[in-house]
Amino acid sequence: MLLSVASGVRQNTQAGGNSRFLQWLTQAESVVDRAPMQPSMPDMPDSRNWFTPPPEVRRRRFNSGVRHGMHIAMQGRDLLNFAGNDYLGLSVHPAVTAAARQALEKSGTGSGASRLVSGDDPLMHVLECGLAEWKGFEACLLAGSGMLANLGLLQALAGRHTALFCDKLNHASLVDGARLSGGRVKRYAHLDTGQLQLMLQDTGEARRIIVSDGVFSMDGDCADISGLIGLAERHDALLLLDDAHGFGVLGECGRGLSSSAGVAGHARLIEVGTCGKALGSYGAFILGTHEVIEGLRQSLRTMTYSTALPPAVIAASLAALNVIRQGDVVHALHANIELFRGLAAQQDLQLMPSITPIQPLLLGAESVALDASAALKCAGFFVPAIRPPTVPEGTSRLRITLSAAHGAGDIEALVDALCDMQRGIPE
Ligand SMILES: Cc1ncc(COP(=O)(O)O)c(C=O)c1O
Repeated sequence: MLLSVASGVRQNTQAGGNSRFLQWLTQAESVVDRAPMQPSMPDMPDSRNWFTPPPEVRRRRFNSGVRHGMHIAMQGRDLLNFAGNDYLGLSVHPAVTAAARQALEKSGTGSGASRLVSGDDPLMHVLECGLAEWKGFEACLLAGSGMLANLGLLQALAGRHTALFCDKLNHASLVDGARLSGGRVKRYAHLDTGQLQLMLQDTGEARRIIVSDGVFSMDGDCADISGLIGLAERHDALLLLDDAHGFGVLGECGRGLSSSAGVAGHARLIEVGTCGKALGSYGAFILGTHEVIEGLRQSLRTMTYSTALPPAVIAASLAALNVIRQGDVVHALHANIELFRGLAAQQDLQLMPSITPIQPLLLGAESVALDASAALKCAGFFVPAIRPPTVPEGTSRLRITLSAAHGAGDIEALVDALCDMQRGIPE
């Protein structure tokens, strides 16, 4: 069969004829049709029934939508987007798109190889130096995405003789990274540094790493970074902090949580940030001492064995970093957070406590969150429902996210729509 398929392709290429190609396709299909299928063992389904379908309220759907700034065109409608992580609106900032366009013209679309082969564009080094300097760390290493950074970092740092102390609400990339690293995973209750301390006292492993989100992505609350660093010092541990949602948002001029806690560059701190959120671009970075970053250059498998980020994406991140340094967008974001929370308080909307652009409204049951999201869509707002397993059972919510690019009128209209939506929820 392989031979007949290959010769069909060859004939088609030589003749260039569409009818030949169709003929070949029909033949190939009939070969596939005739191929005998192995009967499945009772406990060995074929690919069509491999997965158990989730119940309807848990089914995830792709919401195909064309996004531009804070608007998203979906199913023929223009919706105001309160669901992204483009906290500063930089994905459409003129300086950022111009930089990306220029790099695209110069270097083309893809990077063509991993960094250790021929994908190491000089812009990557400029961005790494810029991020390290801005964040107050000795060195920086770019990674393909936040997910890849965390999977690779935990694999590189931890092994059989490492204990990993993880907050129970850590992002999935940290959860999976910890699990795959082979280290001994110990989970402490969300933000419970008292429990963490007891666990640290009680461990026999030679190497210890505390692993935590900075800003928790589904709750918008923050880890106590000074407390965690204090525990790392006292118990001879490292702190792996994923500040994906704090970078560009919190701390002095958006330098992030480690800066506001005064521990940026601490020798026990390894920090991860992403370029896909406040930077409005794509990719991720790891910050640490010269030694740890050099160690990762040698051992971060998710960087070594993966195609490097495209130069246009790097150029966009670099331009976005320059915009953040100027400060205005970060101030505009905080003005919007203050406006939203102020209006919500006036209307008695029970938001979860958060000083970040992540402003969840807890609704409880999955069906209530889905109905609320649908009602908001009818009113012209895109705010998807977040359900288990992303959040714990019974804590389904609307994850409202704000951006510097929202106008005051957008925020006022959202609060009105949330009030209408809430009035429609049965007691
Ligand atoms: C805390 C946290 N870490 C890592 C990631 C993954 O980042 P990326 O989207 O760049 O893979 C996310 C993404 O939502 C996140 O919220």
